[in-house]
Amino acid sequence: MTKRDRYIVSLREMKIRLEKGGDLFADLGNVAAVLRKQQGFYWVGFYLLKDERLVLGPFQGTPACVFLTCGEGVCGSCVERRAPIIVDDVRDFPGHVACDPRSRSEIVIPCFDDTGDLRAILDIDSDQPHHFDEIDLEFLQRIEEQIRPLWGKIT
Ligand code: SME
Repeated sequence: MTKRDRYIVSLREMKIRLEKGGDLFADLGNVAAVLRKQQGFYWVGFYLLKDERLVLGPFQGTPACVFLTCGEGVCGSCVERRAPIIVDDVRDFPGHVACDPRSRSEIVIPCFDDTGDLRAILDIDSDQPHHFDEIDLEFLQRIEEQIRPLWGKIT
């Protein structure tokens, strides 16, 4: 299967799981789990925007930093830019926060709610440099659109 095919399978599985879901943290956990299972990502998770800092939310992978500062690192820069960032080699990104020294490249996607407010950053790491490309960007943005209705669903 190509990367594109694996994303199509992921989108299909997520749609079914989200239809049966309805709890923010459980559903975000399943989104991270589906992505890790289908794409084999080294680390995938959500950093939630709370009180003007980022707090670790549902994730799959090695233990990670709990708090990140807005404006710093890849995730914090994504909060400021409100746009996705692909980092081909984390060593070249000034201020990169190395929660796990094995992470070598990274993609971050801002997650908005239905009213356009920024709620979280979807952060995905690879242990290989230059892992992420336009296909990841396209499909991860489609996934971000699919999860927009979730943000109000805290049980
Ligand atoms: N590298 C990120 C920190 C989060 S970890 O990758 C899980 C950053 O620079 O913001």
